[in-house]
Amino acid sequence: MVKWAPLKIPLSRRLQTLAVLIYLFVFIFEPFVAVWISIVLLFTPLAFIVVLYYAWVFYDRATPKNGSRPNKWWRNLRLWKYYADYFPINLVKTSELPPDQNYIVGSHPHGIFCLGAFCSFATEGTGFSNKFPGIKPLIVTLPSQFYFPVKREINLAHGCISSYAESIENVLGKPEKGTAICIVIGGAEEALNAHPNNYDLKLATRKGFIKLALKHGAWLVPMYNFGENNAYDQVDNHHGTSPPLFFGRGIFQYSFGIMPYRTPITTVIGKPIPVVQNSCPTKAEVDDLHAEYCRALIQLFEDHKNKYGIPEDSHLNIY
Ligand SMILES: *[C@@H]1O[C@H](CO)[C@@H](O)[C@H](O)[C@H]1NC(C)=O
Repeated sequence: MVKWAPLKIPLSRRLQTLAVLIYLFVFIFEPFVAVWISIVLLFTPLAFIVVLYYAWVFYDRATPKNGSRPNKWWRNLRLWKYYADYFPINLVKTSELPPDQNYIVGSHPHGIFCLGAFCSFATEGTGFSNKFPGIKPLIVTLPSQFYFPVKREINLAHGCISSYAESIENVLGKPEKGTAICIVIGGAEEALNAHPNNYDLKLATRKGFIKLALKHGAWLVPMYNFGENNAYDQVDNHHGTSPPLFFGRGIFQYSFGIMPYRTPITTVIGKPIPVVQNSCPTKAEVDDLHAEYCRALIQLFEDHKNKYGIPEDSHLNIY
């Protein structure tokens, strides 16, 4: 039985739905549309627009690896407040992030679309800059997010950098401090765990971010998105052989579709772990700091889980 949405819905809820649709459109469909439009334009007198645009992309090619180009106006659009209110997504601060340090913020879990990390680090939808004055948020995303026309500019306006060690090192190597780089540590592999009530984290073997933190003396901050895995259902995919087959609700009915469920997501940013700069850390030093990070993340989860309806006997499972 399809469960239809009521016809009379307050305007604010329609705007929230529209905001999430725009996000999904840019994330999933825009590449096809943009490539198709570019090809069509090439055979018209407007072909010069395509040529000029690609000349710009070539000229600007270092930016995704060199600090991105976050745009205050874009990040502050009302659209992102509607986006946050759809779920709603909230950001909880548990500690100051003094602006005289740089930070690597580990985001867990990945979920299907990193809704919480996106909202708080790529937009002002949850008011990141009011909560952490003087901190410049950046978020790491796959290099393919910069391959497509227009989408590339949008991702730069959000403050996305590409997921090469070099991109992170370029930012941490700049003289100015106060940058917080959000990395969704579990990556696409962890997306396969994006089932409601799943607390498995792909983290035991993920140590690259620890090495980078040591190398540049960036403080490590654990972050947990409570409720992220409730936004979609996913067809069981134990062997991890295919991309996640997820589903949520539709626009006009609640039974099936690519819209996420309206379910609260609370992003809790933990206390920073001070890291002393160490240009050539040994394996033991990396392992020790990794263990300390995992302990801090587990503590953060345990300290806050009961507020978000997680049963007392559910714990993080780091693998
Ligand atoms: C990266 O950005 C810095 C300024 O933050 C600039 O000095 C440097 O030239 C840039 N590197 C490249 C390759 O564009």
